[in-house]
Amino acid sequence: SNNVESVENRLTELCKLLSDSVEYYDWVGFYFKNGDKEELKLGPYVGEPTDHTIIPFGKGICGQVALSNENFVVPDVAAQDNYIACSITVKSEIVVPLFKNGENIGQIDIDSNTPDPFTEEDERFLEFVNQEVSQIL
Ligand code: SME
Repeated sequence: SNNVESVENRLTELCKLLSDSVEYYDWVGFYFKNGDKEELKLGPYVGEPTDHTIIPFGKGICGQVALSNENFVVPDVAAQDNYIACSITVKSEIVVPLFKNGENIGQIDIDSNTPDPFTEEDERFLEFVNQEVSQIL
């Protein structure tokens, strides 16, 4: 299997590439299931540091995706009641689950300072990114 440091470095570079390439991708990061616990743990990311390094399943957009196994596109974060704010500049969010051997093991999370920027093209693209990522895990 692949060594942890190399995977983390590659995922950090991927986050940088995504954030630099798409104007409205302002915070880009990965959360992964934390061992056997019913919670997510923050992995590699780029953007403002967040206090939310551990997120219980069910909590916030990320925690909901951990249970639903479905993409979650949030055009307006202010309209969500189960939402964890990381930065007051964030207007919208997309979370796409990451599957390894059919199991939901984590997710890519992208915050945007632009209102309602995410389309089905972002969903298809990020699904593809996650499929590629699952190959190096
Ligand atoms: N907004 C997320 C929390 C993670 S931060 O966006 C980095 C949520 O509601 O789950």
